[in-house]
Amino acid sequence: MRTLEVSSRPVIRAREVGKAFSSRGQTVQVLENLNLDIRQGEFLSLLGPSGCGKSTFLYIVGGLVPLSSGELLMENVPIRGPSRDRGIVFQEPALFPWLSVADNVAFGLKLHVAGRRGLAGITASVRELLQLVGLEGFERFRPDELSGGMKQRVSIAACLATDPKVLLMGEPFGALDAQTRGVMQRELLRLHETSGRTTLFVTHDIREAILLSDRVAVMSARPGTVKEIIDIELPRPRWRHRQEDNPDFLRLERFFDELLEHDIRKVMTCAPT
Ligand SMILES: Nc1ncnc2c1ncn2[C@@H]1O[C@H](COP(=O)(O)OP(=O)(O)OP(=O)(O)O)[C@@H](O)[C@H]1O
Ligand SMILES: [Mg+2]
Repeated sequence: MRTLEVSSRPVIRAREVGKAFSSRGQTVQVLENLNLDIRQGEFLSLLGPSGCGKSTFLYIVGGLVPLSSGELLMENVPIRGPSRDRGIVFQEPALFPWLSVADNVAFGLKLHVAGRRGLAGITASVRELLQLVGLEGFERFRPDELSGGMKQRVSIAACLATDPKVLLMGEPFGALDAQTRGVMQRELLRLHETSGRTTLFVTHDIREAILLSDRVAVMSARPGTVKEIIDIELPRPRWRHRQEDNPDFLRLERFFDELLEHDIRKVMTCAPT
C-alpha cells in the first residue's frame, strides 16, 4: 500500500473560476464556474477534450496566467503569481541548453537555498535527485546529448529540486514515443507512491489518467468546467503490476470513454469562437 495517505484537506481550492481571453477583437470564454479541490498528497488528473482549458487552468494554478473571475487559493491564501511552492513541468522539457544536467538540476537550488546549505549540500541533493529519476552518470551531459525521455526526467528533477509542495504537470509525456511514455509513467507512479507529493496532472489520455491518479476530474468542452470527479480505487502500489489487464482498469476506461465522447464530438463540430 502507499507510504503516505491522501488527506481530505485541500491544498488548492478553486471556486467558480472563470477565464476569458481577448484577442483579435474577440473574447473567448475558456473556463467557466470551475470548482475543484486538490487534496494534500493526492495525484489528481485533469482529463478533457482538446481546447477545454486544461493547460490554461494549470497555468492559472501555477500563477503564470491570472484568472478573470472566481477565487483560487493555496492553503487559504489567494494565488497571485508563481511561487516555489508550485513547481511546473511542461510538455516540452524546459532546460538551459548550455548547462550540464547537474547544473540544470542545481539551478533552482542555487537560487533558493545556496545561502543555507552551501555547495556541498547542493551537490548531494543533485546526486540524490538524479538517482531518483534514474540519471546517475549523466551529470556532465548537456541537454542536446540526451533523448526526449531523459530530458523530461531532468526537468522533473529540476522541478523537484526546490521541493515544491505541489507538482503541476502539463502533459509531460505528450511528446514521447509510446514505449518511453510507458516507462516514464511507471517512474512517475513510483515517485509519487514513495513521496506522496500533491500532484495536478493534465492529460487527454484516459489510460494515463487511470493508471496514475487517485482522482480524475473530467472537464467539459469549452467553456471548460469540471463536470465530474471520479475516484480511482485501484490498489497501490500500482507500479509493481501491469494495470492494463485488470478488469477494473478496463471498466474505468470504458466509463471515461463514454463520459468524454459527447464533449469530444462537441469540440469537433463547434465554431472556432
Ligand atoms: N494566451 C491565449 N490567448 C488567447 N486564447 C488562448 C490563450 N491560451 C489559450 N487560449 C485558448 O484557450 C482555449 C483552451 O486552451 P488550452 O490550451 O487551455 O486547452 P487544452 O485543454 O490544454 O487543450 P489541449 O488538450 O489541446 O492541450 C483554446 O481555445 C485556446 O485557443
Ligand atoms: Mg493543453
